[in-house]
Amino acid sequence: MTRTLKLLASVALGLLAAPLLSAQSTCGAGSLCGSSAPCCSEFGFCGDGTQCLGGCNPLHSHSLDSCTPSPICADETTTFNTLDRVLTNYTIYEGNATTHDWVVDSGKVFISSKNELVLALTKDNNGTRISSTRYVHYGTITATLKTARSAGVVNAFITMSDVRDEIDWEWPGAQTSQAQSNYFFLGQVDYSNSHGATHDGLSDTYANYHDYTIDWTPDTLTWSIDGNPVRTLQKTDTLSKDGSYYAYPTTPARVQLSIWPAGIPGAPQGTVDWAGGMIDWTDPDYVAQGQFSTIVKSVTIKCAKETSTTIANNGTLPANPRSYVYTKNDTVVPRVLVSNESTNVNSASLHGVAVGRTVSVVGGMAVLLGLGGFLL
Ligand SMILES: *[C@@H]1O[C@H](CO)[C@@H](O)[C@H](O)[C@H]1NC(C)=O
Ligand SMILES: *[C@@H]1O[C@H](CO)[C@@H](O)[C@H](O)[C@H]1NC(C)=O
Ligand SMILES: *[C@@H]1O[C@H](CO)[C@@H](O)[C@H](O)[C@H]1NC(C)=O
Ligand SMILES: *[C@@H]1O[C@H](CO)[C@@H](O)[C@H](O)[C@H]1NC(C)=O
Ligand SMILES: *[C@@H]1O[C@H](CO)[C@@H](O)[C@H](O)[C@H]1NC(C)=O
Ligand SMILES: *[C@@H]1O[C@H](CO)[C@@H](O)[C@H](O)[C@H]1NC(C)=O
Repeated sequence: MTRTLKLLASVALGLLAAPLLSAQSTCGAGSLCGSSAPCCSEFGFCGDGTQCLGGCNPLHSHSLDSCTPSPICADETTTFNTLDRVLTNYTIYEGNATTHDWVVDSGKVFISSKNELVLALTKDNNGTRISSTRYVHYGTITATLKTARSAGVVNAFITMSDVRDEIDWEWPGAQTSQAQSNYFFLGQVDYSNSHGATHDGLSDTYANYHDYTIDWTPDTLTWSIDGNPVRTLQKTDTLSKDGSYYAYPTTPARVQLSIWPAGIPGAPQGTVDWAGGMIDWTDPDYVAQGQFSTIVKSVTIKCAKETSTTIANNGTLPANPRSYVYTKNDTVVPRVLVSNESTNVNSASLHGVAVGRTVSVVGGMAVLLGLGGFLL
């Protein structure tokens, strides 16, 4: 799949998942939210409250501290034999990652009779996406899953940061002997350099579970299938044209699993072609199951240790590390700090207030995080 197609696919997903928010103002690079609705959502709309949770883009929000701090990584395995750790009603999520490992962002999930999580795509629901409540800032993530196998349907297992660093496993369309890998830096599409790759020779991905792994370190990105590396990207291979930075994912990301309709009327032709054509709603799988399904057996997250090169607080964690925040928007590659601030949207917060907040770092030194008052 080309970068262009991928971009179109991402755009299509965004449009499908975005609520109708015509009354809200839009936001993006160079067009930040105001102080009354300070948080720029993943769909590019300004808001407050729960819109400051996962997906809120700090670089496009009123100030770098407008978004709620992101829950810090924790080693965990979710075996989907119950929905106990899955919050199916996202509207009641307030950012407490202790209570749930996953939130259903849109669509429908259920547990199958074989104790698997089913992500459902129906003609009416526009697909399903779940996101981890916690963020991963380097680590190893493995999903054991089976894919839908129909033209126009896309299965995905990705990491997505709030500033759109992205690492992907994807299975578009009816092809069941391959998987695709991809990555993005700050959502940028690099036309001169292919980021996507195809990995063939898998035994039927619809009929068989495979373990798909993203092994993300500060220096290398390795995609593995059933424990065997199929692709390794070195950070040093991603040097920007002007040689000033590496276009490599570095920011904390949620893990997301989704199934979505690429082959539908109105979708860009490139997206439809990538997904193998238009969806046939009389497809035997759909008729038999009542939905197209991505079936997830388990997801395991193993967090990397922070070092002096991974976080701006010199590798040293605060006494009670709870969250990731962004600091100093003065370099192309965003700077991340580990903080002890609450991740709960209803905790005392400084949203929209152009003052700094402090975090204790090495030697009790206080570092000013919120620079809104200075930058704007
Ligand atoms: C961060 O920097 C980018 C690039 O200069 C700019 O578009 C954006 O408005 C800045 N965001 C904040 C919150 O200062
Ligand atoms: C989700 O929670 C909200 C707020 O409590 C409630 O109004 C809504 O009915 C719930 N939705 C479902 C599908 O349970
Ligand atoms: C998060 O949930 C846990 C478990 O219910 C609870 O002990 C904790 O106080 C909650 N934290 C916040 C900030 O609400
Ligand atoms: C699905 O997408 C269609 C077309 O964009 C839209 O009309 C419909 O409201 C969406 N349904 C849901 C459940 O989001
Ligand atoms: C960061 O760590 C380096 C090496 O351990 C040390 O020399 C330096 O003083 C530290 N800087 C701060 C601000 O703590
Ligand atoms: C964060 O750490 C600082 C310094 O240790 C402390 O004063 C503050 O109360 C802590 N905040 C929270 C929310 O734990």
